[in-house]
Amino acid sequence: MKRLLTGALLLAAVAAHAQSASYTLADVQVHATAADCWMILNTNKVYNLSPFISMHPGGSGMAAYCGKDGSTAFGNVKHSSNAVALETTYLIGSLVTAPAAISVTLTPTNATLTVGGTAQFTPKIANSSTGVAWTVSPSTLGTISASGMFTALAAGQGTVTAASMQDNTKSASAVITVNSTTTGGGGGSTHPITVAVNPSAMTVNAGSRARFRANVSNSSQGVTWSVSGNIGTIDARGVLTAAMTPATGSVTATSMEDPTKSATVQVTLTAVNCGPEHSDRQTHSRNDD
Ligand code: HEM
Repeated sequence: MKRLLTGALLLAAVAAHAQSASYTLADVQVHATAADCWMILNTNKVYNLSPFISMHPGGSGMAAYCGKDGSTAFGNVKHSSNAVALETTYLIGSLVTAPAAISVTLTPTNATLTVGGTAQFTPKIANSSTGVAWTVSPSTLGTISASGMFTALAAGQGTVTAASMQDNTKSASAVITVNSTTTGGGGGSTHPITVAVNPSAMTVNAGSRARFRANVSNSSQGVTWSVSGNIGTIDARGVLTAAMTPATGSVTATSMEDPTKSATVQVTLTAVNCGPEHSDRQTHSRNDD
């Protein structure tokens, strides 16, 4: 008798547990065969009918609803109250709506600043009421406050990442570029690099050569030379070998130390109406080294 009671209590406990279990539609959908058959019936209840299918008086037709909602199909057959009561035997839990996926976005998605500078990042979190945890990679690049204020500590490139505290597999990152300070400030003694080109404009005979000079301030390094337009080619020393036909274009000197600093001068190639000797003479008169 005692054993019987214990068994009954156990069954009741199992049944109570079964009914409190929650399953999403996705959970049900993976049990979609006659051998492994879960079904939604009564709109929001989940049943494991695997042991019942072979005993079903209505045959194997019900297998079509394994892994699905069979509520309507069950009702359409006008099952007896006996059939309805039988369902309870196979009840395993309730159907719940899957929680909406958490997502994180970050603005801005990139920031460029100088050492000592700050940038504010703002995370947007969908479907979660908890916030984000911040990380800076590499950690030497800077620090970030709980509210997303990044402070640059060293020059370099890296990322700032905000990860959902509820689900840290959901995160967003922004690219950070930290430049070393180039203007005096914060006690720094550096001065901005400037580039100037002499002469500031030039008219050159087509087919001849001409020399440009660059004046670079606050840098121990020189410049790289480039041309724009069909005016010819320029070598590492700033000597332009002009094209054979008249054209207009420009010559640019760019600081090797800071390629954002450059100077450009306009160049006009004019037609030559005398022989090749003239062209030679032009070469010597301009190329004065
Ligand atoms: C959606 C899935 C199901 C379908 C399509 C289905 C279909 C049928 C059909 C066609 C019959 C024969 C009706 C007749 O003889 O007139 C039947 C009978 C029966 N089915 Fe189902 N069935 C389903 C699920 C279930 C479930 C889940 C149970 C119980 C756990 C069940 C229990 C019975 C019983 C006991 C009968 C015998 C007649 C009665 O008592 O109503 N069926 N079913």
